[in-house]
Amino acid sequence: MARRAASVTDAQSFSTDYSLPLLAWYDRHHRSLPWRTPPDETRLGVLPDPYRVWLSEVMLQQTTVGAVKRYFEVFTDAWPTVEALAAADADDVMKAWAGLGYYSRARNLKKCAETVATEYAGRFPDTEAGLKTLPGIGDYTAAAIAAIAFNQPAAVVDGNIERVITRLHAIETPLPQAKREIRALVAKAMPHDRPGDFAQAMMDLGATICTPRKPACVVCPIVAGCVARREGIAEHFPVKAPKSEKPMRVGAAFVAMRPDGSVLLRKRPSSGLLGGMAEVPGSDWTARQDGITDISAAPFPAAWHATGSIRHVFTHFALELCVFKANLPDDASPGDGWWSPPSALPHEALPTVMKKVIEAAIPGATKKRRKG
Ligand code: ADE
Repeated sequence: MARRAASVTDAQSFSTDYSLPLLAWYDRHHRSLPWRTPPDETRLGVLPDPYRVWLSEVMLQQTTVGAVKRYFEVFTDAWPTVEALAAADADDVMKAWAGLGYYSRARNLKKCAETVATEYAGRFPDTEAGLKTLPGIGDYTAAAIAAIAFNQPAAVVDGNIERVITRLHAIETPLPQAKREIRALVAKAMPHDRPGDFAQAMMDLGATICTPRKPACVVCPIVAGCVARREGIAEHFPVKAPKSEKPMRVGAAFVAMRPDGSVLLRKRPSSGLLGGMAEVPGSDWTARQDGITDISAAPFPAAWHATGSIRHVFTHFALELCVFKANLPDDASPGDGWWSPPSALPHEALPTVMKKVIEAAIPGATKKRRKG
């Protein structure tokens, strides 16, 4: 009880003034990222390109800054403007997105680019409310773009910021229940002259100092007001509601290969899970105990042999696929789909689960060869 009372007092006294030491730290130690404008320029009113901010934020919802950099470079080389992305071939966009996961986001990315190009003359709306009307832009992304690209006072809260705030104020309410409280604390602390830098400073602090394990509190610029640190329990936060276990689905996947190494692929239906992506033929994925995981699900007769199994975890279920392989003659052309030669296979719109399947049958087949 004593701790809760202390944390409320601290939250009130400290929340209004930690932005100054935080921003001073960001000015010196910000990460240099390809979609960012450094703080010495944002302070002069030079803001980053909203297209690049939007693209990076959508990508960063899936994965880490390190992994996104490569994808960001490929996308901005191929499509340097929102108009270019709007005019892009949808299959090329899916191919460039392959491996990032959550493929509905790639479809929304294209739709959003088309909307901005045709209905907004290529200019993103500059308010949170305006941004939220666009396909695929939710609360978080709208706030991040409004703050970073337009310097609007929007309260940005991602996973890193949740961790920083729950520690700073020792918030015992579990996530996701605590989200509203966290947002209110961020809104209160945010300086109205530099909301974009404040959001990115909080993100950088969470990613480099206030890390999930072994946070580097001794070099933290806002440690003076951190209740969790004072009590020696930083790693206890954020408190999370227990996760329910994911249901298991099973199935079988079939890798057919010609003598030249070409692999038979087909396209998934355009809507639904992994919509529009490439796959090898296979069974349905079922949660039934007696689901088909054997050769009886083969798409056509061939000398199929088992090459192991793979596991993949999606948002709502875990999947185990038994993988079978068969060598087919040069002139084999079973059913629909296409033969992807070894040089094209690494560039197909293959989701990670399918890369795992093909790797289980033909090691190295989906890896991109290094240039030079
Ligand atoms: N994570 C999400 N958005 C980010 C950004 N703009 N900079 C760094 N990390 C981020």
